[in-house]
Amino acid sequence: MGTERLKVTVGVCGGIAAYKSVELVRLLQDAGYDPHVVMTAAAEEFVRPLTFAAISGHKVITSLWGEEAGTGSSEDDSSGESGGGAPSSIEHIQAAQSTKLLVVAPATANMLAKFAHGLADDFLSTMYLATTAPVIVAPAMNVNMWEHPAVQANVATLRARGVKVIEPGSGYLACGMVGGGRLAEPAAIVDAIVETLAESTKGAGSGGGDFTGETVLVTAGGTREAIDPVRFIGNRSSGRMGYAVAAAARRRGAKVVLISAPTGLPCPAGVEVEQVVTVEDMRAAVMARLNEMTVVVMAAAVSDYRVKDVAGQKMKREGAQAVSLELAGTVDILREVVGRRRDGTLVVGFAAETENAVANGRAKLERKGVDAVVVNDVSKDGVGFDSEQNAGSFLTKEGAVEFPVMSKTEMAERILDEVLKLREGAEH
Ligand code: CTP
Repeated sequence: MGTERLKVTVGVCGGIAAYKSVELVRLLQDAGYDPHVVMTAAAEEFVRPLTFAAISGHKVITSLWGEEAGTGSSEDDSSGESGGGAPSSIEHIQAAQSTKLLVVAPATANMLAKFAHGLADDFLSTMYLATTAPVIVAPAMNVNMWEHPAVQANVATLRARGVKVIEPGSGYLACGMVGGGRLAEPAAIVDAIVETLAESTKGAGSGGGDFTGETVLVTAGGTREAIDPVRFIGNRSSGRMGYAVAAAARRRGAKVVLISAPTGLPCPAGVEVEQVVTVEDMRAAVMARLNEMTVVVMAAAVSDYRVKDVAGQKMKREGAQAVSLELAGTVDILREVVGRRRDGTLVVGFAAETENAVANGRAKLERKGVDAVVVNDVSKDGVGFDSEQNAGSFLTKEGAVEFPVMSKTEMAERILDEVLKLREGAEH
């Protein structure tokens, strides 16, 4: 099922940069993955396993041997893949088989050498040999070590075997030297993970890869209409829901174009983002790309009005008079999309409602001729606009699916699950 999070194993080696892996695990959680952590003995000198266990929600594997295997937290999910005192001799095989990707960050010179030469004397190096999932390494070390021919030869060997290497960046190193060797930024490592999993067919059947072949356009954010050169009419949309849909579609293998009104959000990995400001900008950007699309999800909060005569200069206070702004209606982009889409392009609209949410949503479904409408009741506290969470219903001509309160990342997955059902229905 699409809502199942993909398991990503993060291997942490002993280096100063191990603290950055904590951020990496957190970002993977935010991006909708299920991170599990494997630490080398040396890594434990830098960060305690408990830190990773608390963030990932799974126990941390720290050793190949007996009782020590899986220390770090007693809390684990019920998958049993590494819990319940599984004999350590087979634990690495289970861990290696169940993971969708192995990323090693930081990867030390020692671990790169072990991988390159097939040594298997700890959990991580053994798991590397036992897994058929894609492997990414993000090296971090002193600049002279990084540039040493022995290390470079090992890296070349791994590359030749299909391991993706995220080159270390340049900058101040913990040893006081300046140069290459700094661990890549966690966000860049997440980008590489998203890309690798989106391309990997190994994720298929578990939520990964089921959008392969689809081209998805998403609109997000709140448009702005100018009043004068410094003021605008806007709305409280944060853009989070649309960004979550774009990120999830990419994770599941789609090519994704995100047309975004202003938000404070970072671009989702692997997604082509076009920034726009006004309704007219958004309309033009959407129409220019519509022909390529197989799915359109319009999550943007689009202004229904614009100021008729935008002031050329900043409006002055000029006493305390009341000022009236004359407003004109804007184009309904969604309606135009429905009118101009190619056969087979699925269109999903959003409806932000403050009263009679489902009835109003259903009316919108009919009026706009879309395949589905996601209805949000934005009058409730803590869900919808400008919030991390959302709740609502997915309305189609045939019926309604209720979405209880959940994170926007989770809701994005649920929306895409429903879109796939529509696609399957349309094919029969
Ligand atoms: N929408 C659009 N262009 C507009 C207004 C809205 O494309 N000018 C899209 C939104 O992106 C959303 C859907 O239409 O997917 C519904 O938006 P909403 O503001 O709830 O509906 P309106 O059509 O504006 O209806 P009303 O304001 O009467 O509720």
